[in-house]
Amino acid sequence: MYKLKNGLSVELIQGDITEIEADAIVNAANSYLKHGGGVAYAIVKKGGYIIQKESDEYVNKYGPVPVGEVAVTSAGKLKAKYIIHAVGPRYGIEGDDKLESAIRKALEKADELNLSSIALPAISTGIFGYPYEICASIMVNVIKSYKPKSIKKVIVVLYSNEAYQIFKRIFDENL
Ligand code: APR
Repeated sequence: MYKLKNGLSVELIQGDITEIEADAIVNAANSYLKHGGGVAYAIVKKGGYIIQKESDEYVNKYGPVPVGEVAVTSAGKLKAKYIIHAVGPRYGIEGDDKLESAIRKALEKADELNLSSIALPAISTGIFGYPYEICASIMVNVIKSYKPKSIKKVIVVLYSNEAYQIFKRIFDENL
């Protein structure tokens, strides 16, 4: 557990984000909010079809979510209150600034919803191809420079041991 000067507590956990107790769980989504693979599929499988249904309604109403932006749905059967769907960039196609933006906007949305805890996966490091090192460096910088309102705790959830070890090294070096 890291205690930051901005008041945030940051925890790195290796595991499945659908098992985490947090007010909001962040999903690594695509612009169409079609949750067909990776962490998105795991969230819908466990949380229930309501998450996909609300996602489809969102896209029908507002159009696709731009890369670097977020959208919110309920969390279905999961313990969280909300899912914050963050659309990360595809490595080598959209820029790192979009990953920075997706992470920052997920935190801002949690503050807007007056939440105290948020769980984040390693956005863009699966199907979207980002190296763990780059995601970890961007994430650590966003969390460090963030000025929280209601958020007290950020839980970063890594699925594989490899990802966990890389994030741990980069967080240890920078926090
Ligand atoms: N809990 C935590 N992390 C997970 C889980 C899980 N249950 N399942 C997968 N991950 C990890 C992956 O190992 C990877 O490090 O989440 C990270 C992000 O991987 P993806 O889910 O593939 O997300 P991303 O690379 O951002 O690609 C997004 O994939 O699932 C589709 O609909 C999604 O099209 C979108 C694209």
